Amino acid sequence: MQSFQYYIKTNVVFGEGSVCRTAELVKKHGGSRVLVVYGGGSAKRSGLLDRVFALLDEALLPYDSIGGVQPNPRVELAREGVKRAVEFRADLILAVGGGSVIDTAKAIAHGAANPETDIWEFWKRREVLTRSTPVGVILTIPASGSETSDSAVLTNEQECEKRGLNTDLNRPAFAILDPKLAMTLPPRQVSCGVTDILMHTLDRYFTPADDNELTDALAEALLRVVIRNGPKVVENENDLHAMSEIMWAGSLSHNNLTGLGGVKDFSVHQFGHELSGMFDAAHGATLSVMWPQWARYVVDTDPARFAHYGEAVWRLTRKDGESDRDLALRAIDTTEEFFRSIDMPTTFTELGIGVLSEEQLRELAERCTFFHTRVVGKFCPLDYDGILAVYRMANK
Ligand code: NZQ
Ligand code: ZN
Repeated sequence: MQSFQYYIKTNVVFGEGSVCRTAELVKKHGGSRVLVVYGGGSAKRSGLLDRVFALLDEALLPYDSIGGVQPNPRVELAREGVKRAVEFRADLILAVGGGSVIDTAKAIAHGAANPETDIWEFWKRREVLTRSTPVGVILTIPASGSETSDSAVLTNEQECEKRGLNTDLNRPAFAILDPKLAMTLPPRQVSCGVTDILMHTLDRYFTPADDNELTDALAEALLRVVIRNGPKVVENENDLHAMSEIMWAGSLSHNNLTGLGGVKDFSVHQFGHELSGMFDAAHGATLSVMWPQWARYVVDTDPARFAHYGEAVWRLTRKDGESDRDLALRAIDTTEEFFRSIDMPTTFTELGIGVLSEEQLRELAERCTFFHTRVVGKFCPLDYDGILAVYRMANK
């Protein structure tokens, strides 16, 4: 087990009706003037936004708001949000939505605390972030884990780039997790969310460290719970028990708990970000396409690890004389089959981008190496040629 530091400052408030504690939590975390950030309309349609405004009114908390955040959130809207936050003198940014809204709120929070710097400079690593503004979250979709994560992902449309920024300053001050709020989700979004939750743990589980007993056991338990309850919420978003399990798993899957003591791999996420950056593809859908291909490409790095994954997570039993490699491949097929069973794509065509030209595949691979300046992953570090090979495998 490697040395680690575990820092999660987020005050998580879980349960049906917990949204009524919004104003109390805003005040507890130092907010007196609130900028509310929301998405393309679901929070308006469900009445949640009006409810939040009413709660802030009742508590005599002045607020302003900015909506229109879209999936794969754009840096341009976040810049507008920064201006709004500065003009309004907001001291807490409140996200009402999913990962896209939360990441936009995080970007606004950083920009408001550093108005002299264009926020994209932090994402491009040309400026170092040293201060921010508190962010509160009312979560409406279990998926990204952004409600407790140290990450925020933005898209710069002009540069066709989707980039993440990791810093403890991205950890929200509080997160309200009310599973009832997710019951207006369409099945496709639920499936994307379930996939993303699985992937946040899988992208940590395949790591060079193999002596991480407790962390592995936590990871395997989380994966089993999501595999058991995921199809139930896809089938019926009103299943409160299953939605509760998925929502809690979503927050735990990406706050680093399920990877402590190992190094984060996250290659599949990097493959996915390039697909979203170039084709505006939904995040979860890029992951279900890329994970099985990546896994088949790297399986020989540690077949025993994949075989153990099959036994511990999918409860596969080893057939007489079956090798680690064969069991590993069955585990990968089983995972792919699971994605299909919840209507997730497993090829580029199913993702809706069609079969790509060789030139497009090369561009994806180049972008993924940040134009030949990095390799991707830790379990089996991949350079340009390796990345291109994995993209080619998905190109059908
Ligand atoms: O915009 P509205 O109208 O609200 O609709 C949204 C959006 O169309 C809809 N939705 C959300 N809650 C709903 C709802 N529709 C009905 N009822 C509800 N209760 O769902 C759609 C997707 O929303 P989005 O916020 O994009 O989903 P998600 O939470 O999956 O976030 C995806 C974004 O997060 C990033 C992804 O890359 C992507 O940009 N990620 C952020 C991470 C982080 N900060 O830690 C980690 C992840 O790996 C991920 O990269
Ligand atoms: Zn993700």
